[in-house]
Amino acid sequence: MNAELFRDVDTWLEHALATTDPVLEESLAAARAAGLPEIQVAPNQGRLLHLLARACGARRVLEIGTLGGYSAIWLARALPADGRLVTLELDPKHAEVARANLARAGLAARADVRVGPALDSLAALAAAGGEPFDFVFVDADKPAMPEYAEWALRLARPGALLVFDNVVREGAVADAASTDPAVLGVRRTLERLGADARVDVTVLQTVGSKGWDGLALARVRD
Ligand code: SAH
Ligand code: DHB
Ligand code: MG
Repeated sequence: MNAELFRDVDTWLEHALATTDPVLEESLAAARAAGLPEIQVAPNQGRLLHLLARACGARRVLEIGTLGGYSAIWLARALPADGRLVTLELDPKHAEVARANLARAGLAARADVRVGPALDSLAALAAAGGEPFDFVFVDADKPAMPEYAEWALRLARPGALLVFDNVVREGAVADAASTDPAVLGVRRTLERLGADARVDVTVLQTVGSKGWDGLALARVRD
């Protein structure tokens, strides 16, 4: 793999396309200072999430897996003034960093960080019976991805876009011999979505600063 070249191109793109800014950089610095793992989406992927959410005209966005709020900033910035991001995070420390980062980005009023196991928060969201979501980004623990996909389908409106991160995993998704729970979770998710009459789905393989991976995009049928 040309990992170094892929990274260099991402660095070049970051500057050529101006996919970062001081607020995003400060959010990464704060997450690093707090000792969070540096597993957020790349700048060009953050911009992709932002563009997709805007292209959907998303007013209500759900994120599963907040970390320090980097992708959350990109998504919350895609919302209209009366829009709302609900983002779910297991780790209270991650959530605290994310809340501070969203506040520094001027997005605190538009973003709701909920702490706890995502499956519990998703059940609570369904029980509360709020408005359906227009856009869902699934980026938490991969073994549970099939369940997150089910909840996303349940909580999203017809026409909504569902995006799943880390679905190629350096090609491991296609390795029939893999016993990695993350690989099995991702594979089951894609196989189920591919056979699910409720969605149209595709996967893009990606290379760059995050190595070789991929994003699944699924549109909920009308
Ligand atoms: N979307 C973020 C990255 C998320 S990393 C970004 O791109 O900026 C994955 C996050 O999922 C981590 O913060 C991890 O703590 C969280 N997570 C793991 N298991 C979880 C669970 N069961 N429920 C909710 N969040 C979980
Ligand atoms: C991991 C999780 C992610 O969501 C990601 O984008 C990269 C790595 C991880 O758990 O290692
Ligand atoms: Mg991810």
